[in-house]
Amino acid sequence: MTTPKRVRVHHLREAKERGERLTMLTAYDAVTAAIFDAAGIDMLLVGDSIGNTMLGHTTTLPVTVDDMVRAGRAVAGATTRAFVVVDLPFGSYEAGPEQALATAVRVMKETGADAVKFEGGQRVAAQVRALTDAGIPVVGHLGYTPQSENLLGGPRVQGRGDEAVERLCDDAVAITEAGVVALVLEMVPAPVAARVTEIVGVPTIGIGAGAGCDGQVLVWVDMAGMGDWSPRFAKRFGEVGAALRAAAEGYAREVREGTFPDAAHSFEA
Ligand code: KIV
Repeated sequence: MTTPKRVRVHHLREAKERGERLTMLTAYDAVTAAIFDAAGIDMLLVGDSIGNTMLGHTTTLPVTVDDMVRAGRAVAGATTRAFVVVDLPFGSYEAGPEQALATAVRVMKETGADAVKFEGGQRVAAQVRALTDAGIPVVGHLGYTPQSENLLGGPRVQGRGDEAVERLCDDAVAITEAGVVALVLEMVPAPVAARVTEIVGVPTIGIGAGAGCDGQVLVWVDMAGMGDWSPRFAKRFGEVGAALRAAAEGYAREVREGTFPDAAHSFEA
């Protein structure tokens, strides 16, 4: 994306119109948010994947609004250019537009984020409309939606077969008409994601959805190679976990040997 001082909602649509691909990474704290912002990442997602990446849960389901507010404030506070999106966690918006609006207003007031994201298609179109009418930009999320993992039977590709493709397209159109400013497509066959990208006027951001989307998002720990394993669709652009472990081992060795701290890292009388 050509470089605005600060990425705002109209830049997202302009990027799609110009055919410029958008970049998005998750971030959950001020340290990584500042690094990704300085790297020129266009959008930072304070994802509810914080549950399984940072908080020690096995799914996103236990994540609370308080968890998201704390992380959202840290990320938005450390960011000067990127467009910051905060996930509404499971149970904080599904009951209806009133619940979604109350949660989103709290998130926007207490974090300084630019937008919220939540999962679902036609079933949450009224929520998208209510927030949009209240001036809150919403990013949609279709395909594999981790908050519904129990119903979907775990992380599985969605949108295979004519009926599923039609449902996905209908969902995309419904939430686009309701006002979403961008749309995450997770674990969707590449040709299906490309078709959705063609039929909606807002940028699609793919994760495991092929190269035909208007942008890409990855969970940063997968992108950076923090753990031993990353999902098939998540290329490891570094081996940061191994580098961090080597640094910790070097520190421990020098402390045990008595070579750290040396004179250069001590104060004179
Ligand atoms: O929570 C998250 O990290 C997400 C991405 C997988 C898109 O929603």
